[in-house]
Amino acid sequence: MRRHNGRHHSTTPRITRLLGSLLLVAAAGAFAVGAAPPVQDTAIPLGRVVPAPASAEPGGAPYRITHDTGIRVDDSREARQVAGYLADILRPSTGYRLPVTTHGGTGGIRLRLAEGPYGTEGYRLDSGHQGVTITAARPAGLFHGVQTLRQLLPAAVEKKSVQPGPWPVAGGTVRDTPRYPYRGAMLDVSRHFFTVAQVKRYIDQLAMYKINELHLHLSDDQGWRIAIDSWPRLATYGGSTQVGGGTGGHYTKADYREIVRYAASRYLEVVPEIDMPGHTDAALASYAELNCDGVAPPLYTGTDVGFSSLCVPKQVTYDFVDDVIRELAALTPGRYLHIGGDEAHSTSHADYVAFMDRVQPVVAKYGKTVIGWHQLTGATPAKGALAQYWGLDDTSAEEKAQVAKAARNGTGLILSPADRIYLDMKYTEDTPLGQDWAGLVEVRRSYDWDPGDYLAGAPASAVRGVEAPLWTETITDSADIEYMAFPRLPGVAELGWSPAATHGWDAYKARLAAQGPRWEALGIKYYKSPQVPWPTS
Ligand code: ACM
Repeated sequence: MRRHNGRHHSTTPRITRLLGSLLLVAAAGAFAVGAAPPVQDTAIPLGRVVPAPASAEPGGAPYRITHDTGIRVDDSREARQVAGYLADILRPSTGYRLPVTTHGGTGGIRLRLAEGPYGTEGYRLDSGHQGVTITAARPAGLFHGVQTLRQLLPAAVEKKSVQPGPWPVAGGTVRDTPRYPYRGAMLDVSRHFFTVAQVKRYIDQLAMYKINELHLHLSDDQGWRIAIDSWPRLATYGGSTQVGGGTGGHYTKADYREIVRYAASRYLEVVPEIDMPGHTDAALASYAELNCDGVAPPLYTGTDVGFSSLCVPKQVTYDFVDDVIRELAALTPGRYLHIGGDEAHSTSHADYVAFMDRVQPVVAKYGKTVIGWHQLTGATPAKGALAQYWGLDDTSAEEKAQVAKAARNGTGLILSPADRIYLDMKYTEDTPLGQDWAGLVEVRRSYDWDPGDYLAGAPASAVRGVEAPLWTETITDSADIEYMAFPRLPGVAELGWSPAATHGWDAYKARLAAQGPRWEALGIKYYKSPQVPWPTS
């Protein structure tokens, strides 16, 4: 693949640009005629996008969105929805009407569905004097192309009040398809509970960077967060608290469907996780019969791990698991159901293997594919299962070899190395939030590795993608989520989306720096890493 980073020079005649600037100055009302224009009137270079597109060839005149611009779209429901999404972003800041139409015409912004070399998520963006056309084979590709278009417009486009503009888009062609099909983020809603509105806000941020999987860690020792009709106390009692002892919460089935619907509207698939057989105190506290001794432990609001286990020999355990997986699968249009399997330190190895042998077929029975944390490779992963690797550089060679062997035997891998892309790790010693058990993870460290050759002995073809987990022992609200996710999350998105040939810290840090003003426009308070050359204004 080719990639050009050449700066694009506007070919708009100089006099037109000058007139435009003067008009803008007059409109802004803040500068005397003839003073320097208050806004930059040059287009953002075509390739200055995160994640890096597969190729960007600048050339020709830029397009300029004006009050005359419309959004033309093929007459498909999903394409119209993508157009509506784009209009909802552009209208508040431009102040333009931007009508969405399905009839013909020329110019303006066009979203076009057509067969071509785009795959299910790729797109092509052509920009020139007449307009911008995004072409894709599937609506997901149009949606990802819209994210690229957003980043080619000035950062002020993200604001919710009318801005002076202008709104140029550099001329040229972007061709883009993802490196990996699985590009995920995980939110732990168990250690602290997050409302539907908070989850939606994060979904919107993930979508900007072409993340397509939202993994929700729905149960742990500290809280059970999803209503299960056949075992109602899981949510009403097991979900009643959280780390630190505050009021927890849970999603009703209607809440959960709303999260799934909203995620789908942003082309994210929701991956629900019920962590088993460990990390189960909330369930064990809710139902005494799930305990081997028949005695319910108290609810837990601390942050230790590894002390709880479902009772592997008891039949009721499998009645429980069947009910939970059946009800959760019924809420899940997505392909996957994550069964956890990490840190089962209170389950013997033999019990762990026996448990996974019984539970994985239940997931298949309800039509879903198993994902487990990589400890699942210590049992027998089901055919088609994916293992999520969360080790560190200094994870034992034996443990790494076990995962690599499973990968050679057909288990797919999702890479979430904790000392690279656990978003709850502190950036530096001074980071006020987060943990440091996997080390300190500055922005460069989170970006500078290659998923393709990360795990020795695992074939590159086993790697399905990457996922950035955010555990929430110390994270309590959207501001906390955003401070830990930004700026590391876009780097994970780039590892998952961009061809390996585009990878490079020096070019990346400049593209990343250009995101800062966008986050400011969106009200995202991010960590201003000294490793990144943020713009000063
Ligand atoms: C994990 O961090 N226990 C998956």
